[in-house]
Amino acid sequence: MPQPLDPSMPAFRTLLDQAFERIAAHIDSLPTQPAGYVGDGDDLADALREDWPKEPIPFDAALELFFGKALSKTYNTAGPGYLAYIPGGGLVHAALGDFIAQMVNRYSTVWLAAPGLVQLETNVLRWFCRVVGFPERALGLLCSGGSLATLSAVVSAREKMLGSDFSRGMIYTSDQGHHCIGKAARIAGFPVERVRVVPSDDAFRINCDRLAEMIEEDLRDGFRPFMIAANAGTTNTGAIDDLPRLAQMAKERKLWFHVDAAYGGFFALTRRGKQRLRGMNMADSIVLDPHKGLFLPYGTGCLLVRDPSDLERAHALSAEYMPPMQVEDGRYDFCQMGPELSRDYRGLRLWLPLKTLGFEAFANALDDKLDIAEYAAEELSRMDDFEVLGEPQLSVVAFRWNDRRLPKSSLNAANKEVQRRVNARQRVMLTGTMLGDRYVLRICVLHLRTDRARVAMALEDLHSVASTLANDFGA
Ligand SMILES: Cc1ncc(COP(=O)(O)O)c(C=O)c1O
Repeated sequence: MPQPLDPSMPAFRTLLDQAFERIAAHIDSLPTQPAGYVGDGDDLADALREDWPKEPIPFDAALELFFGKALSKTYNTAGPGYLAYIPGGGLVHAALGDFIAQMVNRYSTVWLAAPGLVQLETNVLRWFCRVVGFPERALGLLCSGGSLATLSAVVSAREKMLGSDFSRGMIYTSDQGHHCIGKAARIAGFPVERVRVVPSDDAFRINCDRLAEMIEEDLRDGFRPFMIAANAGTTNTGAIDDLPRLAQMAKERKLWFHVDAAYGGFFALTRRGKQRLRGMNMADSIVLDPHKGLFLPYGTGCLLVRDPSDLERAHALSAEYMPPMQVEDGRYDFCQMGPELSRDYRGLRLWLPLKTLGFEAFANALDDKLDIAEYAAEELSRMDDFEVLGEPQLSVVAFRWNDRRLPKSSLNAANKEVQRRVNARQRVMLTGTMLGDRYVLRICVLHLRTDRARVAMALEDLHSVASTLANDFGA
């Protein structure tokens, strides 16, 4: 007998209980799980290849396959030791929001289909506008992540500033800008050379003088500069560009001013962050990633625009079979503001935690991350032979092992080896990056579950690895 697709309520409860048991055991064990282990990943992937499923298997057996096998070799992105890249989160309330949203499964990109649900999502967007200091009439949309938010920003800027003949349009960002800007530009129809990469200064902030010169050069050469994409927290070092100056430059030259605050933006909830992100509110568009700065599970980005009609100009299109779209102020059809028509109801995964935990809980958690990053930077500067590359501007600490006895030429390889050996201990996972010709390591403190004790473990491991490594590198 085939299983019914829609289980009875008692059967549903049993499924929920089984899932909860697995989830609870998994979350409880996160601090002791390896921080990131994918060794023999090929073997695992091969072992999980499956034929067409002939007979259904019991739910618990499927859970065992997922939790016991598939999940066994992964970067532990939900654990406290994940200090790599830009950590995501794993907020329980957000996951429950998703679960509920998927169970009620309403259509939420058309206002008429679920006005109450659209209103809750609109409330969340309004709260975010307040976080960044945008005016009352600003709004935006929730999307799957920073990259998609950036795509909608580039398309909106292109439509408004250049119209349909955009072949000579030029976008400016620094050499520290996230590659999603280049990708968005490419998908939006610009060849790669239409994104001008401006050098950054010693603090990894865009060199504004050079930017001004490049714009002048391009104008002389017949190009059409139309967008400055500034950084409010770079991936490499957490650097924040001089936003007030860039805003002024954009205004004087009539350019679209975009701020990539995917990583850094929600720090505006803290006193320190708000001060450092001054000028963000002068943007035409801002990318925020709740799956970074609000500790949500992956899959939620956000684009805010000063003027929502800019989004509509770039995205709105309807058809005979569609219900009527809203014309009244304050009523939004999200399908007219972004590329998606059918999509999951993203509002609840934000509304539920923000309403039931409150913004203050998030502000405190972010403040704590800033403290922990400062602590890491201070401790690293005190450690022999470690060099911190500038004070952390947010919660990323970029540093490197710089044993003076080592030849300069071996420093990059030495740092890669430090990273490999620290990660092999499996208490933390670190990633590195290139800053110019220097390979540097990073500690990014953003995971909901990362505390000072875990960062202390990272420092211990760095210290002990470096002490044993000097010999191998001929120091
Ligand atoms: C500064 C910055 N901007 C944009 C992105 C792209 O965001 P997503 O990965 O959500 O597409 C990232 C991702 O880490 C980022 O760090």
